[in-house]
Amino acid sequence: MVFISSDKLHYALYLSIALLSLLPLTECGQIRLVGPSRCSGRLEVLHEDKWGTVCDDHWRITNAVVVCRELDCGTALEVVKGAFFGMGKDEIWLDDVQCAGHESSILKCAHRQLGESNCGHNEDVGIICSDNVRVLNGSNRCNGRVEVHHNGHWSRVCSSDWGISEADTLCREINCGVPVTPSVVPHFDDAHDMSGVKTSCFGNESSIAQCTLQELKGSL
Ligand SMILES: *[C@@H]1O[C@H](CO)[C@@H](O)[C@H](O)[C@H]1NC(C)=O
Ligand SMILES: *[C@@H]1O[C@H](CO)[C@@H](O)[C@H](O)[C@H]1NC(C)=O
Repeated sequence: MVFISSDKLHYALYLSIALLSLLPLTECGQIRLVGPSRCSGRLEVLHEDKWGTVCDDHWRITNAVVVCRELDCGTALEVVKGAFFGMGKDEIWLDDVQCAGHESSILKCAHRQLGESNCGHNEDVGIICSDNVRVLNGSNRCNGRVEVHHNGHWSRVCSSDWGISEADTLCREINCGVPVTPSVVPHFDDAHDMSGVKTSCFGNESSIAQCTLQELKGSL
C-alpha cells in the first residue's frame, strides 16, 4: 500500500491541474477574414495548425450567411470571387462548399474532404458582412427583426422611430433593394424590456452606422 502524505497529495493535485491547463485548446472550425476589416476579407480556415483558404467554386450568399453568423459579423452582403481580397498561400483547405444557410459553422456545410481541391489561389473566396447591422428570424436574409451593433453590443431597434428613411438606408446597406411596406411590424418578444436603439436616418446614408443612433434603456 502506498501512503501519500497530505503535502504530496496537494503537490500531485497541483501538478495535474497545471498539466491540464497546458492541454491545447481545440481549434477545429476556426475561421477568419483577412482583409480591410474584421468582417470583410479573404476567408481562411484553421486546420492542422495552419491557416488555409477556401475555393470560390459554387459559392452563394447562403454560404456567406453562415460565415457572417459564425464570426458575429452581422448580415451577409456579398460573396466576392477570384481572389478579390488577394491570394492566400499554402493550403487550400475547402472546396465545393454548399450551405443551406442555417448551419452553425462553415465546416457543417457540404464540402469536399479538407485539403482536397482542384483550385488555385486565384480562386480564393472573399466575404463581405455588414459588421454593424443584422436581420434576424425572417424567412430570408432580407426580412426580419433588425438589430444594430452599438456601444459594443447588439441591440434591437425601437420600432416607434423606424420609418421609410431608416428602411431605405438599411435595405441599401444590406443589398436588399427597396423596402416593401409596411416596413414595421411590432415585435412583442419581451413586452417588459423597453431598451433598444433609436435610429434617425435621412435615407441617403450608405449604412445605418451613419445615422444618428441613441441607446434607450428602460423597462415597464
Ligand atoms: C432568432 O434568431 C436567433 C439568431 O439566429 C436565434 O438564436 C433565436 O432562437 C431566433 N428566435 C426565434 C424566435 O426564432
Ligand atoms: C443627406 O441628406 C441630408 C438632408 O437633406 C443632408 O444634410 C446630408 O448631407 C445628406 N447626406 C449625405 C451622405 O448625402
